Amino acid sequence: MGELANVPVEDLMGELMRRMRCAAKPEKRLILIGPPGSGKGTQSPIIEENYCLCHLATGDILRAAVAAKTPLGIQAKEAMDKGELVSDDLVVGIIDEAIKKPACDKGFVLDGFPRTVVQAEKLDAMLESQGNKIDKVLNFGIADAILEERITGRWIHPASGRSYHAKFAPPKVSGVDDVTGEPLIQRKDDNAAVLKSRLEAFHRQTEPVIDYYEKRKVVSNLHAEKPPSQVTEEVHSVLSA
Ligand code: AP5
Repeated sequence: MGELANVPVEDLMGELMRRMRCAAKPEKRLILIGPPGSGKGTQSPIIEENYCLCHLATGDILRAAVAAKTPLGIQAKEAMDKGELVSDDLVVGIIDEAIKKPACDKGFVLDGFPRTVVQAEKLDAMLESQGNKIDKVLNFGIADAILEERITGRWIHPASGRSYHAKFAPPKVSGVDDVTGEPLIQRKDDNAAVLKSRLEAFHRQTEPVIDYYEKRKVVSNLHAEKPPSQVTEEVHSVLSA
């Protein structure tokens, strides 16, 4: 929890109300797993807000590093452009550092991590050393055939990670972010050719992670082909059970 002194006066009441609401929420440590375009990034901010968790999206963190040309970004760029996974060591390092931050004290929503069984094992070891564990894995089940239209129509606001869709979730004004009015962009890997590699990586390397957590009896299956508001309802019923 940050210092209240840093909160602008006009936002103070809202921030105090948020802190009171959040103080009553139980801790939750969640993983969202699903293929590219299945809706993880769409549902994450809603879960983050409703359950007072921190949202850690390895894809967003890596894209920011690529844009800033940091050593991490330089190492990650080639694999990302091809739709392949970056090395386990790079992303495990990112998450290890991020989950220790005070913003994640009440728990987290991991979006896009773990994506290999090695990452899952390392995550479990990190949490065990803190006396914590994963409470729930939300599996965004959806057929591959639906994903191309979702991916090629997606527009994002890079600074916030807000995501729109030309057909399914258009911004109020075409091409600009609803909140800031800044321009929206399309991701370099959001085209049909790179999507093919991303899906291959998902089926070969990430689906085994679902089996890994099935054995620990923490997986809940969602019908991610439904409209966004219905997926949100499914998420809510799983998390309040
Ligand atoms: P990452 O950024 O994680 O991409 P991804 O997993 O491929 O997921 P997406 O962001 O494409 O999809 P999403 O499920 O969030 O969909 P969204 O909600 O936006 O990873 C990118 C790259 O980084 C990887 O390829 C890899 O190289 C690297 N990387 C990241 N993490 C890594 C890791 N752990 N290990 C190794 N490498 C890693 O929805 C898509 C569109 O559909 C949007 O336009 C949205 O508006 C629309 N939409 C959403 N829900 C619905 C709905 N229910 N109905 C209709 N439209 C919908």
